[in-house]
Amino acid sequence: MARFFKAMLRLFVLISLVYITSAQNCRSHTFANGIPAFSACNDLPFLNSFLHWNYIPENRTVNLAYRHGGVSASRWVAWAINPSGRQMVGSQALVAFQSGGRMNAYTTQINGFQPNMQPGNLTFAVPSISAAFNGNNEITIFATIVLPPGSTSVNQVWQEGPLNGGNPGIHPLSGPNRQSVGTIDFQSGQIASGGANSMVKRRNVHGVLNAVSWGTLMPLGAIIARYLKVAKSADPAWFYLHIACQTTAYSVGVAGWATGLKLGSDSVGIQHNSHRNLGIALFVLGTLQVFALLLRPKPDHKFRFYWNIYHHATGYLVIILSVVNVYKGFDILDPEKKWKRIYTGVLVTLAAIAVLLEAFTWIVVIKRKKNEDKSHHGANGMNGYGARHQQGV
Ligand SMILES: *[C@@H]1O[C@H](CO)[C@@H](O)[C@H](O)[C@H]1NC(C)=O
Ligand SMILES: *[C@@H]1O[C@H](CO)[C@@H](O)[C@H](O)[C@H]1NC(C)=O
Repeated sequence: MARFFKAMLRLFVLISLVYITSAQNCRSHTFANGIPAFSACNDLPFLNSFLHWNYIPENRTVNLAYRHGGVSASRWVAWAINPSGRQMVGSQALVAFQSGGRMNAYTTQINGFQPNMQPGNLTFAVPSISAAFNGNNEITIFATIVLPPGSTSVNQVWQEGPLNGGNPGIHPLSGPNRQSVGTIDFQSGQIASGGANSMVKRRNVHGVLNAVSWGTLMPLGAIIARYLKVAKSADPAWFYLHIACQTTAYSVGVAGWATGLKLGSDSVGIQHNSHRNLGIALFVLGTLQVFALLLRPKPDHKFRFYWNIYHHATGYLVIILSVVNVYKGFDILDPEKKWKRIYTGVLVTLAAIAVLLEAFTWIVVIKRKKNEDKSHHGANGMNGYGARHQQGV
């Protein structure tokens, strides 16, 4: 029995020790003289960082101190609220670093994947900001912010990186520098970490739907139409394959498009205008293609020639804009590099197949033409719009 109690006691001491050392505890920190005490604080789970604050509910004002340890004089630190998600892009940031032996502290919006981090106003008020560097390689940003409208729980992002020519340079993109996101509730003091919230999941769903539909199936459908049609045995199978591919792409694409609109309306304070406008243009052009299919004149109708020109021009425009918009989406979503590479690989493969088939098609067409010339039948190239007239679709 005594042995059991001893063991229990040891376990208890061990647990307490682990608890005390892991709770690196912002509570035990004392600020320099003259700095008013903060009523709440939290140890952020990555990058030696601590947040101390007072919250004044009447005017939603937060007085805060963000401490970031283990940084040399040649690095910058930042703490941000991101109204649009647990991610870098869209962050409303407070930045600090040493410059010319003095601390530089200002606000900046992170609007792109490679921000220049120049001073700028945020989407909410920051009545004051300053910073201090202490002897222990610790930078502290002091600021007063007025919380954006909505919940007192906000997404927070914190970061550090090297200075580059006296300005903030690109921070490491992996490990703790990627994990340093989460939420903080200034009222309750609760924090949560991790970027895998529902918004991130919805963004990924949006990205996959659109990269597969607009970005992959649409070009594939065009390849089917252009090259399968040469093989006489594939007539009219190519036509049905083309329709199947493009209607699938369109249906999935409209779903992806709708998720995008929803994401846009849920991301208060952040707008990706060109991505959004391209998306809307694509929806309109894609829908026109569906109507064009229904309104297609008979193959021997005199307007069929113009319909063909229209259908091809719109189709190629949709494909080009889709690819551009998928890449814009990658820059906004900022997923792991490999996804962008995989998509590029798919595109390069499709392009290589198209080039091979184009060469093959020309050989077939030229041979066919020669044979037909020999037998004194009318010429029947496959590439002219006129030729398509005769193909019965
Ligand atoms: C918010 O209210 C507090 C306490 O009344 C006051 O000291 C502070 O200046 C106010 N902040 C802003 C930004 O109005
Ligand atoms: C930022 O806001 C202040 C005060 O509202 C204003 O005077 C200043 O011109 C703004 N700066 C920019 C770059 O918009």
